[in-house]
Amino acid sequence: MTRDKWAEWLAERRCGGDRAYEAEMLEELAEVRDRDRVLAALQAGETLLDVGCGDGLIAFGALERGAALAIFSDISQDLLDRCTALAKERGLAGRSQFALTGADDLSVIADESVDVVTTRSVLIYVERKQTALAEFFRVLRPGGRVSLSSRSTASARTTGERRASGAIRWTACDPSETS
Ligand SMILES: C[S@@+](CC[C@H](N)C(=O)[O-])C[C@H]1O[C@@H](n2cnc3c(N)ncnc32)[C@H](O)[C@@H]1O
Repeated sequence: MTRDKWAEWLAERRCGGDRAYEAEMLEELAEVRDRDRVLAALQAGETLLDVGCGDGLIAFGALERGAALAIFSDISQDLLDRCTALAKERGLAGRSQFALTGADDLSVIADESVDVVTTRSVLIYVERKQTALAEFFRVLRPGGRVSLSSRSTASARTTGERRASGAIRWTACDPSETS
């Protein structure tokens, strides 16, 4: 099956094809998500936009917490297709929308239309970070909340370095990395 580079990275390269490690890592990621105070404070009936949603870690968490609507946005059509299929499988399609777009151009989303913007491990890949931040604030309703988390370029090390340090077993942060 041909997948775009992000879908390929999340499905295969992030865990080196090691399914046991992948299951362990997904559990850890769910714990990280559950510690997110912005997500924990989400009120039933609110709308959340997950920018760079990947396979939907945050957006599905929001739907499980009673969000009226989760907007999954990403530059990867394959990942959005995967999220669409998962939303259908989980009976969440009626509360899900999907937007193929970069973090720095959310023009398909109306001004002041979302309560919460989340973006995890995405901004490091976005060149026009200021434009992206301006877009987050444009789409947020007054009083809306943002949850941002991203590694900094300074902290980013090569896969080999991270593996050698024991920080990771397989994962590469950047799908363009080859070692
Ligand atoms: C490391 S993954 C994180 C996925 C998800 N947020 C999570 O926490 O599991 C990075 C995601 O950012 C997306 N991405 C990369 N560049 C982007 C951009 N300029 N705008 C929006 N999303 C982008 C990728 O397609 C991928 O889904």
